Amino acid sequence: MSDELVKAAIAAAANAYAPYSNFHVGAALLLDNGDIVTGSNFENASYGMTLCAETVAIAKANSDGQLAQIVAIAVAGGLEGKVGSGKDAITPCGRCRQIIKEVADLTERDIPVYCAKADGYDTHLLSDLLPHGFGPANLK
Ligand code: THU
Repeated sequence: MSDELVKAAIAAAANAYAPYSNFHVGAALLLDNGDIVTGSNFENASYGMTLCAETVAIAKANSDGQLAQIVAIAVAGGLEGKVGSGKDAITPCGRCRQIIKEVADLTERDIPVYCAKADGYDTHLLSDLLPHGFGPANLK
């Protein structure tokens, strides 16, 4: 299943809108019913307004009422035509880690994040990517 999810992330990067960085990223979310929701990065001429692939995918799942169904995430990035083929995997940026934490806290699941690279993928738990993170428990 994780292999399929990584492939879906690589495929999703084909829809990246990344004319400024030319760095294409795809994300794929596995839902608890086996469905896959994808996203790709969406850049903006005002660079800082760019939306990352992981954030797009999670917002997409949320707007379809599926936020609590997310069980795993795959991410793949690279220059156009080379997505997922780097020697080293790319991992979610800091903002995306915080957004994934919202899912992890909501679902009480330590979400595995599969990060594509040339010879497969690395697996990281959200708790390893964002230790000591800020979350809903801190608002009490
Ligand atoms: N990007 C993502 O989509 N996800 C990440 O986790 C890291 C960065 C995008 C943002 C921007 O469009 C491009 O990659 C280069 O930073």
